[in-house]
Amino acid sequence: MNAALTVAVAGEEIDEAVAGEEIDEAASRAQADMLEIMSSLPRCPVYLTRHYRGFWIRDCPKSGTTWLKALAFATLNRARHLPSDSNHPLCHRNPHDCVAFLETRPVPETMALPSPRLLTTHIPCSLLPSRITECGRVVYVCREPKDTLVSFWIYNNKIAPMLRRKFGLESPSPTFEEAFELFCEGQSSSGPPWRHALEYWEESRRRPGKVLFLRYEDMLQDPTGNAKNLAAFMGCPFSCAEEEAGVVQEIVQLCSFEKLKSSEVNKNGSSAMMGVNNDVYFRKGAVGDWKNYMTPEMAARLDKIVEEALQGSGLTF
Ligand code: A3P
Repeated sequence: MNAALTVAVAGEEIDEAVAGEEIDEAASRAQADMLEIMSSLPRCPVYLTRHYRGFWIRDCPKSGTTWLKALAFATLNRARHLPSDSNHPLCHRNPHDCVAFLETRPVPETMALPSPRLLTTHIPCSLLPSRITECGRVVYVCREPKDTLVSFWIYNNKIAPMLRRKFGLESPSPTFEEAFELFCEGQSSSGPPWRHALEYWEESRRRPGKVLFLRYEDMLQDPTGNAKNLAAFMGCPFSCAEEEAGVVQEIVQLCSFEKLKSSEVNKNGSSAMMGVNNDVYFRKGAVGDWKNYMTPEMAARLDKIVEEALQGSGLTF
């Protein structure tokens, strides 16, 4: 379970709600205040996360967010950028550079984006500005926690040099056993991941028209069905003519692991968002890799922690 990316698609209502310079200024001030507050919060020396209202805040959930960004971007913009176009933005830009990231983008810039705006965030549901959950729509993707941990640990090792250079990371990269212990305590990016997922899960039950809860494993099994659901949820369902013309398959193919991983920009380019080589976002793209890293005892222990945390919620992995 766990980890997540959320995508908010803001429509006309949010435009009206946030229009105007005064609001831009107020929002910019709020963002500056938030940065100041963040710098005063307890910090995990291993991941440089900050502890705030029960969550370890930093991005990078490793649950398929790159994939979801690509799918949402390609689907929402399919009239402007044909998915069959060999010059499609996703052919020469990393998905992270195609969708605005709420946490790092200056507020006035975000507000200036044309509606409907496509934004991404790793902020826990309970900490999201209420305007987003009220006026926008949120798509959440989660992944089986053991696979997420493995993906996260490997990714974290790869980006450690950048964290040292840019953010002053001093701790050595954790061994897998150390990362496992931290994970069991709820420490990872945006952790505890089970609580992160649970909040969005509950919101998706309460307001199914506003929050769509996806699973990485389901998307791998049925990419076409999930792409269709995503389009319908975002308010731009595929027409019969589009389906007959194979547009859904074209989008699925454009955003597939093989296609993205093998493109020149993702093999050798670097993303403006993180300043790391894009190849760190594409590793195996498979289910069950945890078996190559965890003993059965470790797996059983983590499963139990997750099961207990989710008891009675209806969310299982
Ligand atoms: P693995 O490390 O298990 O291979 P995120 O995008 O949230 O950081 O998640 C990263 C995980 O998604 C990585 O998993 C990565 O390989 C996988 N991934 C990236 N793009 C994908 C795609 N288009 N289809 C399926 N999996 C993808």
